[in-house]
Amino acid sequence: MKFTVPGKWILVGEHAVVRGAPAIVAPLSSRSLILEESTELEASPLQTALEKIAETLPGLSEKFSRLKVSSDIPVQAGLGSSAALSVAVARYLEAHDFLPNEEILAKAQEFENIFHGSSSGLDLAAVSASGPIFFRRGEDPKPLTCAWTPKIYLHDSGTRSSTKECVEHVANQNRKDLDQLMAMAVDGARAALRLSEAEGISLLKDAILTAAKCFEEWGLMNAESAALTEKLYRAGALAVKPTGSGNGGFLLSLWENTPPEEFRGLPGF
Ligand code: PMV
Repeated sequence: MKFTVPGKWILVGEHAVVRGAPAIVAPLSSRSLILEESTELEASPLQTALEKIAETLPGLSEKFSRLKVSSDIPVQAGLGSSAALSVAVARYLEAHDFLPNEEILAKAQEFENIFHGSSSGLDLAAVSASGPIFFRRGEDPKPLTCAWTPKIYLHDSGTRSSTKECVEHVANQNRKDLDQLMAMAVDGARAALRLSEAEGISLLKDAILTAAKCFEEWGLMNAESAALTEKLYRAGALAVKPTGSGNGGFLLSLWENTPPEEFRGLPGF
């Protein structure tokens, strides 16, 4: 049996979502993680992460010593690799009758907390979804109504950061104004996606720029992200922001027309 789970990317709503604001997030269908039984295990950061999860499940260590994780989701990049691993392991437990179906998400959240501290659950909801969702902590995610498909691409800043540290950095600033601004970006993006492309694109651009401003104000734009942002704007991007916890990781860009190949990165949709 094979358990395949995609990555995820966040359109808008990071950080404020931890304190109850909504967010828009989508599965990253071009990248996925696979968990399967195998006798040929190779050392990797994800295999180590799986061992950490196994430590919380005494009695299953023999079964887990035969589980292999492979993935093309970049690790620690804000693209949901730990959420994908957590969901894959919870599904594996369910399939082998170690977990009731209705507890898959709660168990995956326990695993995710090993890596992220207390997360909003946004990543888990996204990697479990079949399309973009509107998410609010503690509520069932709602499928997002999209009347058009924005040209959105994801680009690697080449640097990595810890989600836990970024979340703490933002929480310590206690900037309620920025949480509110991020919530406005989410409202704007949601409305933009319900309109036609011609009517919605400038609203979506403004929403992404508003979210980008929050990242700047929180001090979560490192030099590499700032340089890549400049490069994307010079190539014609309409709006650019970090996707995920920031301070490195991946950036998201919105385009009016399909960008030149070298700026296509990973397609969001
Ligand atoms: O896992 P990341 O780096 O994509 O961050 C998830 C989004 C945050 O809002 C920063 C944290 C959370 O738990 O929602």
